[in-house]
Amino acid sequence: MTPAGLDLDNPERENWYNVHKSIGLTILGLAIVRLVWRWANPPPPLPGTLGYLERFAALLSHWRLYAALIFMPASGYLFSAVGNHPVNWFGLFTVPNIVPYSAALAHFGGALHLAGQWALYDLIILHVIATIWHIVVRRDGALDRTLSAQNANATKEAEVSRGRAKNVFDTATRRAAPSLDVLTG
Ligand code: HEM
Ligand code: HEM
Repeated sequence: MTPAGLDLDNPERENWYNVHKSIGLTILGLAIVRLVWRWANPPPPLPGTLGYLERFAALLSHWRLYAALIFMPASGYLFSAVGNHPVNWFGLFTVPNIVPYSAALAHFGGALHLAGQWALYDLIILHVIATIWHIVVRRDGALDRTLSAQNANATKEAEVSRGRAKNVFDTATRRAAPSLDVLTG
């Protein structure tokens, strides 16, 4: 996220950790808001062109991404809070430690946090490859689903103008029918 842990001799390390933690806790908040939003506004069904295995893989990876977006900040918080290193959110206020100090629990949270990063990297790489696959190989408009509101409008407009064109065509054929009858005998 931020290169906080990379240079251990940097005197600004503490600050960078705080930036890392502040961004991480913000991601946690946003992920929760997004999940509540998603629950209230369910996404459109997956395209019918997807096979059973593809559907399963898509759902599994999306839910694992959500799990990672909760798990990483939660374990980071555990790591930090129970180790008595409270987070000062972007220097604005101190996030309360809701768990009592415990060195053992802090180490446990730390181990989970450090191990979890690899799962997250794998997931993101897989996710981006899958997106590129849909755009370049399948060309099934999977990316457009994320813009569903605009798409729904565009689809509606297209249907309306198709309907109008059809009406014009039908009327014209109806009007022309007698002369056509004459012509075709
Ligand atoms: C999406 C959210 C987060 C991600 C993806 C993430 C990722 C990471 C990664 C990859 C490292 C490893 C750096 C290294 O290898 O040295 C790390 C370290 C750390 N993270 Fe996070 N983090 C997140 C949120 C948080 C939060 C919310 C906190 C605390 C409230 C936190 C606290 C820490 C601490 C204290 C370390 C230092 C570990 C050490 O090297 O001793 N992280 N984080
Ligand atoms: C180049 C970067 C990325 C692209 C192009 C991309 C693209 C997409 C697309 C097209 C979808 C919609 C799939 C569908 O039709 O249901 C999606 C869903 C999702 N993406 Fe990404 N993504 C990117 C990076 C990320 C990252 C970094 C994360 C999180 C760490 C992430 C988390 C998610 C999640 C959780 C979903 C599921 C949304 C839901 O169904 O509620 N994405 N992404």
